[in-house]
Amino acid sequence: MSETFELGTIPPMGAVPKMMKAVVIRPEREGEPETAMQIEDIPVPECGPTDVLVMVMAAGINFNGVWAARGKPVSVMKMHPEEQFHIAGSDASGIVWKVGSAVKSWKVGDEVVLHCNQSCRECPSCNGNDPLACQRQRIWGYETNYGSFAQFALVQPQQLLNRPPHLSWEEAASYGLTYFTAYRMLLGRARIQAGDNVLIWGASGGLGVFAVQLTKLAGANPIAVVSREDKAELVRSLGAEMIIDRREFDLSKGESETRRFGKKIRELTGGEDADIVFEHVGKYTFPTSVRVAKRFGTIVICGATTGYDLDFDVRYLWMRQKSIIGSHFANAFQAEKAHKLIFAKKIRPVLDQVFNFEETAHAHQLMAENKHKGKMAVRVQAPVPAS
Ligand SMILES: NC(=O)c1ccc[n+]([C@@H]2O[C@H](COP(=O)([O-])OP(=O)(O)OC[C@H]3O[C@@H](n4cnc5c(N)ncnc54)[C@H](OP(=O)(O)O)[C@@H]3O)[C@@H](O)[C@H]2O)c1
Repeated sequence: MSETFELGTIPPMGAVPKMMKAVVIRPEREGEPETAMQIEDIPVPECGPTDVLVMVMAAGINFNGVWAARGKPVSVMKMHPEEQFHIAGSDASGIVWKVGSAVKSWKVGDEVVLHCNQSCRECPSCNGNDPLACQRQRIWGYETNYGSFAQFALVQPQQLLNRPPHLSWEEAASYGLTYFTAYRMLLGRARIQAGDNVLIWGASGGLGVFAVQLTKLAGANPIAVVSREDKAELVRSLGAEMIIDRREFDLSKGESETRRFGKKIRELTGGEDADIVFEHVGKYTFPTSVRVAKRFGTIVICGATTGYDLDFDVRYLWMRQKSIIGSHFANAFQAEKAHKLIFAKKIRPVLDQVFNFEETAHAHQLMAENKHKGKMAVRVQAPVPAS
């Protein structure tokens, strides 16, 4: 087997080269994605007895790649100090290329999609509670190295899901992280019910497009927040009827604008506040989220794009008995349940743009600047379609 192979050429099934092309972040160039992420040749990682090596056909762009590139609020190098370089990417579609000697459920040649939760698989939390409670729980491609922006990715077998046959490699790579996260947030943590009004921040973004679809599927009512007309069109195409353009409100002004925002929600719903607020924007929106949730309502949060040091008026929380619930990715069981809805075509990927591997940094830069909508993916080994 030769040392390396060109992008898009497929070596004989199961033959592992010594080196691979990878989009690499190094500590000395942490910063904006466009400069932090560069293509290098890197040794293909060893596939241990309990590991699986996947040839990556396509990889999905996620905000954690932006955090990894910036090295803020924490440098990912601290998470694997023995390797001072980082290959990001927590979504992929691909082909199983090598399996460790202890792996029983998958074989070389299987076509797969990956979920990004890793855990020890040995502790009580992994064997009876929830692997998200495992002390060694990690997000693959963010807290671990050898993510999806490379010709090969190193994963645990429990991360693999069958590739839906009706999807292209790029579509199949585009949804895992955000869709499975939105599924856990709404169905697992906030326990959405038919008829609920659900305020969805960033409804046209990676999490939002799935939150809108899941809310509709549950028989509940999305209130979709967007900031551009084409984003409003996108969420409308997913079934959202109640749409708020957040440019009409300056939430940084505090009380008066927050109240006006709440009034807008009630105008749309016929007088109801939000039963559930779907949060991931953080600092900029959180005071409003706490305010506009209904009495006994729920704010479910998984991220903080605009800042994690949140500031809100707690009186609205206790007097009206609201709950704030944290949520983080999904376990394999939830990922599998959510994935069945993709097979059944009840939930669809919302792939807006596909890039070549060389444009991985650029795609992350678009996300960092909020210049995208829906999901983006890059081709790794998948063929470039004939023009
Ligand atoms: N813990 C987890 O498991 C987990 C999983 C997935 C994502 N996350 C985190 O969740 C966040 C969102 O992820 P994503 O994939 O949905 O990202 P995304 O595709 O960038 O979407 C985020 C959306 O937020 C909206 N937004 C940006 N700035 C805003 C502001 N100042 N006020 C209101 N809305 C604003 C934007 O929509 P408009 O401009 O149209 O309003 C954008 O579409 C990221 O921080 C990510 O790291 C966490």
